[in-house]
Amino acid sequence: MTLIKGSDITLGYEGQGILSGLSFSVNDGDYLCIVGENGSGKSTFIKTVLGLVEPIKGKIEYCGGLKKNEIGYLPQISGIQRDFPSSVMEVVLSGCLNRHRGFFYTAGEKRKAREQLVRLGMEDRISSSFQELSGGQHQRVLLARALMATEKLLFLDEPVSGLDPKTTSELYEMLRELNGAGITLMMVTHDIHPALNDARTILHFSHSGYFFGTKEEYFNSEPGKEFMKEAGHDN
Ligand SMILES: Nc1ncnc2c1ncn2[C@@H]1O[C@H](COP(=O)(O)OP(=O)(O)OP(=O)(O)O)[C@@H](O)[C@H]1O
Ligand SMILES: [Mg+2]
Repeated sequence: MTLIKGSDITLGYEGQGILSGLSFSVNDGDYLCIVGENGSGKSTFIKTVLGLVEPIKGKIEYCGGLKKNEIGYLPQISGIQRDFPSSVMEVVLSGCLNRHRGFFYTAGEKRKAREQLVRLGMEDRISSSFQELSGGQHQRVLLARALMATEKLLFLDEPVSGLDPKTTSELYEMLRELNGAGITLMMVTHDIHPALNDARTILHFSHSGYFFGTKEEYFNSEPGKEFMKEAGHDN
């Protein structure tokens, strides 16, 4: 079942196009990896699909009754944002703001936040301050936060940037499990491994155009072969 689709979209800001003629779709249960050079429009694409940025041309359609608040989002994070002065619990709970009506969090929401932290192996840091965590722990907490909003679709923008290889593969393992549990994933990454191992579909942006197709089609295409070569997988 298709969840999101767009055809002949132009991405950009204030009338200034970054990429045009973009057509794509995301199906239920997909694992879509978005790859490509810096500044090619990956984050802009995610923000456009989320409705945070208007496309210059075309329309992104949510299908099968999908609602905006069923999409969890883990934004590209900068060093400054890691200094957020809140507790781990508060950061995770802030993920349910979308649905929140009253001022206080309910006991059910707190229980759910705790469950997400346990699920991601962060139960012993529940009362820690977010600032004192390592990069890998930050990403787990932000993943728990995104999971508060939804169990349906997650968008992740470079979730492993700055993480060491072990922490990176642990995060990929978690994402694989979440995808196995039926959560549709869309992830921006500069790393070839999830594209090679876990993804079903690939969206590759470059300054000269884009590729969208299955992983198998991608690795037989010119941009796919180029990506493999750059990552040292060209044999
Ligand atoms: N809010 C904005 N207003 C105007 N231009 C922007 C804005 N945000 C990004 N851009 C420009 O849009 C282009 C694409 O940026 P984007 O952040 O989508 O790239 P990216 O592929 O995510 O890059 P990276 O790999 O570095 O994260 C860049 O030229 C960038 O300068
Ligand atoms: Mg980006």
